[in-house]
Amino acid sequence: MRYTGKNLIITVNNHAVSYNDEGPDDAPVIVFIHGFPLNKSMWNAQVEELEYSFRVVTYDVRGHGGSGTGDEDFSIELFVKDLLCLMDALKINKTVLCGLSMGGYIALSAIEKYPKRFNALILCNTSCKADTLEAKSNRIKAIESVKENGAEKFAEENLNNLFAPESFATMKIEIAVVREMIVKTSVQTLCNTLLALSIRSETFSKLQDIKVPVLILVGKKDKITPTSFSHLMHEKIKGSSMYIIDHAGHLSNIENPYEFNEQITKFVESGKVKAMNI
Ligand code: MLT
Repeated sequence: MRYTGKNLIITVNNHAVSYNDEGPDDAPVIVFIHGFPLNKSMWNAQVEELEYSFRVVTYDVRGHGGSGTGDEDFSIELFVKDLLCLMDALKINKTVLCGLSMGGYIALSAIEKYPKRFNALILCNTSCKADTLEAKSNRIKAIESVKENGAEKFAEENLNNLFAPESFATMKIEIAVVREMIVKTSVQTLCNTLLALSIRSETFSKLQDIKVPVLILVGKKDKITPTSFSHLMHEKIKGSSMYIIDHAGHLSNIENPYEFNEQITKFVESGKVKAMNI
């Protein structure tokens, strides 16, 4: 049977968080943060394999999946506070943090604010840049369109950009699952998160301050955060490693879980990350 998780609920920072916490309690911890507008189940292929070697925590970002929205305006800063409150509640003092796309924006902002709480960073299909004026204006148009036409149309318009062209022939089930995740996200969360993403700050100028080991992963055919975005972070983060995942677009962990999981395992078990656990 495929992994579904227990979908536990905990209240932190004034909202209910749906999360899964798998693997041995005394193993190195990896906390995974999903992309927009998805939820923690996008990490199922990682949990299924990695829970044998690591404590693996996945959770739904505020408003997404089974997590509540709370009353505050969405922002990357609020999502960072939610993450730290969740770590406190789960008694995770330090963790390896892995974020994909929006999850990577949250991870980069979290390490900037709380550098002592992270052993290592895995940045997947993400960017350290703020939205350009054009990207901001596209987000506003997307908000208007979601309000008028709902989540289904948003899913249809965005699916093409999430996967590599070859995945449309080989990954029909996975694509249907991702479509379902988008469609089930409320219009309120779609709009509030689009706004939060459009006003996020850049983290480029802080990359040189990152002192923990960093692995950068990116799908070879990512159209949303192309490989050039990863090269830029790789150049700026001293000692970072970078790996381009074949047969993958923006959702490289879903499109090529074999290579993705292999890279994560090698990295977290490497001497440089182990040394940070002491
Ligand atoms: C994501 O996958 O999280 C989004 O594509 C991020 C974004 O739209 O900037």
